[in-house]
Amino acid sequence: MWLNQAWLSQTLSNRVFHIELIGVSEDAVSVRLRSEIAQWLHLPLVTSAPQSTQPTVTLVCDVRSCLDEEGFSIDVAQDGNVCIESSSTRGLLYGFYAWLRDVGLKAEHSHTEIPDQKLRMINQWDQADGSVERGYAGESIFYGRWGSNVHAEFFDFPERSAADVFRGDISRIRDYARFLASVGINAISLNNVNVRSYATRFIVEPYLQRIAEITRIFSSFGIKSFLSVNFAAPKVIGNLTTSDPCDKKVIAWWKKVVDHIYEVIPDFGGFVVKADSEGEPGPYQYGRDHADGANLFARVLAPHHGIVIWRAFVYNSHTDWRDRSVDRARAAFDNFAALDGKFDDNAVLQVKFGPIDFQTREPLSPLLARMQKTNLIMEFEITAEYLGHQIDVNYVLPQWIGMASWQSPEGSIRERLPRVARQPQFTGFAAISNVGMDENWTGNTLAQANLYGYARFCWSKSLTSQEIAHEWVGLSFENSTTATKQVIESILNRSNKAYEDYCAPLGVGFMVNRNGHYGPGPDDYEFDRWGTYHYADRDGVGVDRTSATGTGFVGQYPSLYSSLEKPETTPDELLLFFHHVNYTYRLHSGETVIQHIYNTHFAGVEEVEKFVDEWNSIQGDIEPLDWENVAERLRRQKANAINWRDQINTFFWRLSGIADEQGRSLYS
Ligand code: GCU
Repeated sequence: MWLNQAWLSQTLSNRVFHIELIGVSEDAVSVRLRSEIAQWLHLPLVTSAPQSTQPTVTLVCDVRSCLDEEGFSIDVAQDGNVCIESSSTRGLLYGFYAWLRDVGLKAEHSHTEIPDQKLRMINQWDQADGSVERGYAGESIFYGRWGSNVHAEFFDFPERSAADVFRGDISRIRDYARFLASVGINAISLNNVNVRSYATRFIVEPYLQRIAEITRIFSSFGIKSFLSVNFAAPKVIGNLTTSDPCDKKVIAWWKKVVDHIYEVIPDFGGFVVKADSEGEPGPYQYGRDHADGANLFARVLAPHHGIVIWRAFVYNSHTDWRDRSVDRARAAFDNFAALDGKFDDNAVLQVKFGPIDFQTREPLSPLLARMQKTNLIMEFEITAEYLGHQIDVNYVLPQWIGMASWQSPEGSIRERLPRVARQPQFTGFAAISNVGMDENWTGNTLAQANLYGYARFCWSKSLTSQEIAHEWVGLSFENSTTATKQVIESILNRSNKAYEDYCAPLGVGFMVNRNGHYGPGPDDYEFDRWGTYHYADRDGVGVDRTSATGTGFVGQYPSLYSSLEKPETTPDELLLFFHHVNYTYRLHSGETVIQHIYNTHFAGVEEVEKFVDEWNSIQGDIEPLDWENVAERLRRQKANAINWRDQINTFFWRLSGIADEQGRSLYS
């Protein structure tokens, strides 16, 4: 990760640090800030105003400052003295790390910053057995000391002490918290949204005490902790006969649980809930709606200033592929749009950025553009489930920035979130983490750029994906030559397009291998229950989602309806998401659909071959371990890209019988 302690202490060793709190009490964050400077960076921290002639860095937390609570200003004077100011200890911490970043990038300058999104959240999908759902960087950093090969049955709790479930590697968690705080993350949920086995008990003793140890680390870095809860917990661990959100006993049970959590963790953030989704229990089982479900939690959390984050990823995961009227893309909107205005002030709806599931290309979820009186979080997936498993290089910021910039009548989607909220402070972004116990945290070292980039994307609405890549490369390869850094940046900046090129074409999605979601599987989901179909036949491909002849999904976008309803006015890259067209249909680019498929699949592999050559050219100018790590992954990426190219091209060649105009090899 970017915070290279040895390098920073060496660079800063001639400075003296001084912290002043004016009208603000000492708290866990200010104590942490002092220890970061003195113990972690080994830098001189003086208690009274410095007299020294050495350049001084003064950190001032002044309640009278007119800066936003999380904002800060950095003032770099000509004589080398620096003053970092904020109105809260958290803002001061962010200012301190921002200044370290400037130093790391050799770009110290005066500036003032206020974060763009209020909630800047990370979701861990870590499970109590030490595995990480859709994790590609080793075991959980939090759980699983007793071995990930021991899987408890779904709701079977053989006696096992809390010490056995928690890994207890405090220093790893501290390093992670430091990294997250250094890029402005302010909330984290600590366990997977599919809450199984021991994780169901994290909300009660004795597990809660161990959870509290973790939350104290995050709190000291200004990060609020949340837990994912099992909607059926009253039945599963509370010995009740129901989990009905309107049942008095159920409400009383949750109240008791929540009151106790706040006795143990006074600054607890609240709950994340996945309900009625992919087999998880939820309010529909009791004839209740999702507002009933969410408001149950909102009301028991409200007295403690906690919030409930309710996921909108609700769809029928038992679709009959023969039934063309059911469209998974419609589901979030169909389940939630009518509930707009019915969620309590401290309930937040977390919506995936696209209507399906983090594919390489999707339109914006229409729910994000539609809700008018609801707190919303836009959800992203840093862990590369459909995007190459952190084997393939895929720097995904271009896609996320594009999604958050979709225009609505209230401005871009990222601007819209606070404007339509009941409580603007409860809106923002959340993303599923990509870290694990692997030495380099993220499997592929270059996948760190997505974690770093996600946080920077939450913080600033003006940074481009190239600027973020430039920062991350500059900070992570600080000893390399400029030419080497440019090579790495260039690979990152081209990687998302390359990956999209060799995967499912033109937004059609889900041509992925169903066994784990890595590599091609053009028909793997075609006759399955998950509602993700491409309908390729001998004449054409794509899903007709129009109102005139298709599923009517297009009607969920009032302001874009007229353009998306017709193929001629639909952007090329989303054509097959919205329309079923013939292979000879001509795109705006001038290519036919079939020729576009062939061209992009050949181009994607060629680009990966270039990545391999370019990476070879920088051997010797970066740490050998990092170089080896990425070189090995690029070898696997090349094999994967070739596999995608050949299977997708052959699939469409066999169906269409239309040869490649350029006569390149297609397998029959
Ligand atoms: C995807 C993913 C699941 C996950 C789900 C979710 O479908 O494959 O592993 O549980 O998203 O977001 O809840």
